[in-house]
Amino acid sequence: MSVESTVRAVTTYRLTEMKQRGEKISMLTSYDYSMARIVDAAGVDVILVGDSAANVMAGYETTLPITLEMMIYHARSVVRAVRRALVVVDLPFGTYQGNSKVALDSAVRIMKETEADAVKLEGGEEILESVQRILSAGIPVMGHLGLTPQSIHKFGTYNVRAKEEAEAEKLVRDAHLLEEAGCFGIVLEKIPAVLGARVASELRIPVIGIGAGGGVDGQVLVIHDMLGINKGFSPRFLRRYADLHEVMTGAVTAYVGDVKSGDFPNEAEQY
Ligand code: KIV
Repeated sequence: MSVESTVRAVTTYRLTEMKQRGEKISMLTSYDYSMARIVDAAGVDVILVGDSAANVMAGYETTLPITLEMMIYHARSVVRAVRRALVVVDLPFGTYQGNSKVALDSAVRIMKETEADAVKLEGGEEILESVQRILSAGIPVMGHLGLTPQSIHKFGTYNVRAKEEAEAEKLVRDAHLLEEAGCFGIVLEKIPAVLGARVASELRIPVIGIGAGGGVDGQVLVIHDMLGINKGFSPRFLRRYADLHEVMTGAVTAYVGDVKSGDFPNEAEQY
């Protein structure tokens, strides 16, 4: 009996090999089946089911309200679409901080109920016990340092992080702790480019940046931002590859006009 392999082509091991040979890693978010099919087929290496779904899919102002159930729904839809990319799922706020048993339970639910490849957690030393416990169950973990949106109420702004030496040194220490614990990669968000390059050069595991400069091992963006669906967000690090807001508005406006005028459907579009 032959069982079709569910192991996707990009593995955590392959990402480390890519870093070793200097090949940059591409990562994008996706939250649903149709988008994930396009992103995967276009050759993105890592698909992140980010808790940014709270913002771009559910319309919340912060990422805090999204639940484990909502993340599982998004991740399941994405996993059904993906053939090649590694699928990483964010553990949402409140499902891993302060209690490593709860963290393990949350990660196990993600892995069992979605068949994703890995989980991502925000934070360093303060969540290390949770990271270690999840890793002890054989679940690959990606770290996330710098701007950590789940802590927005602690910091109060989405400004660039780790500009001061003390915060930068803590970030470097945290990155080493996460690597030593066994994380397969780290996301660095909105920090000075020099610091991003330093962390990437000191670590053996891949460092993926979002607003962390060009000296890291790969880049990640939120798909709604880079496709220009979401026009109200334009930080310096964001490169827009399309203006889908304009394209979609034009298409929907034309459709409304055609329905109102009776132009749609025409003879060829009916039975
Ligand atoms: O949730 C998300 O989309 C993220 C990226 C910004 C890295 O964590």
